[in-house]
Amino acid sequence: MIAVEGLAVDYGPVRAVRDLSFEIRDGEVLAILGRNGAGKTTTMKALAGLLPAAEGRMSDGDVDITRAGADERVSRGIVLVPEGRGMFADLSVRENLLMGAYARRKSSRALREDLDRVTAPFPRLRERMAQRSGSLSGGEQQMLAVARGLMAEPKVLMIDEPSLGLAPVIVDQLYEFLGSIRDQGMTLVIVEQYVRVALGIADRAYVLDKGEIALEGDAATLRDSPELIDTYLANNAA
Ligand SMILES: Nc1ncnc2c1ncn2[C@@H]1O[C@H](COP(=O)(O)OP(=O)(O)O)[C@@H](O)[C@H]1O
Ligand SMILES: [Mg+2]
Repeated sequence: MIAVEGLAVDYGPVRAVRDLSFEIRDGEVLAILGRNGAGKTTTMKALAGLLPAAEGRMSDGDVDITRAGADERVSRGIVLVPEGRGMFADLSVRENLLMGAYARRKSSRALREDLDRVTAPFPRLRERMAQRSGSLSGGEQQMLAVARGLMAEPKVLMIDEPSLGLAPVIVDQLYEFLGSIRDQGMTLVIVEQYVRVALGIADRAYVLDKGEIALEGDAATLRDSPELIDTYLANNAA
């Protein structure tokens, strides 16, 4: 379990998130919801070790990881698929996938097996291994970003706004795939503005508003909560 206690993150003099206390339980799908600017990405970056905690602490089981750097967190299996997908557009699909394995020292044979494993659900990626990533469709790029995250052999995979800019039918395909990852026992943290798709897959959810946790609970309860839709996510209830 990853536990966060009293986390605050600053951008210079501006405090973007404050007093965040939450946990990521082994094997669950956790949704982090909230409108634009609520602090979702900031929270994910702090978990990934990409932004320092101004206050509070984070632990992975018994280990305090508050000051662990990004590489150390990847080595521990805490992996972020960043907002905007973080593709290297000029690199090939294969090269992007191999970047995901940078923290693992592996033989080229083991890496080839990993490439096969993470692309198995994506025939369209397999056909395009040598192609420039920038030439893929938005949906294919998001699948590639998730597959690249899997190359790091995560125990917790955090995905920031996977459905942003994708057509509904592609979002459905993506979530079908995320469901299959969940079924393999992976812990997932999914950041979304699109409440319904996220609550459709999640076990639990936290709703951020203005840098603080405004609401938390079981996904099933929140699905039926008009308070959630009306108060915190008025513009993003689709
Ligand atoms: N690099 C940055 N510099 C200064 N302020 C930032 C930066 N990134 C985000 N913020 C601010 O922090 C707050 C939270 O942003 P963010 O975590 O990106 O929200 P979300 O991902 O929920 O849309 C917002 O007020 C945003 O303007
Ligand atoms: Mg964001």
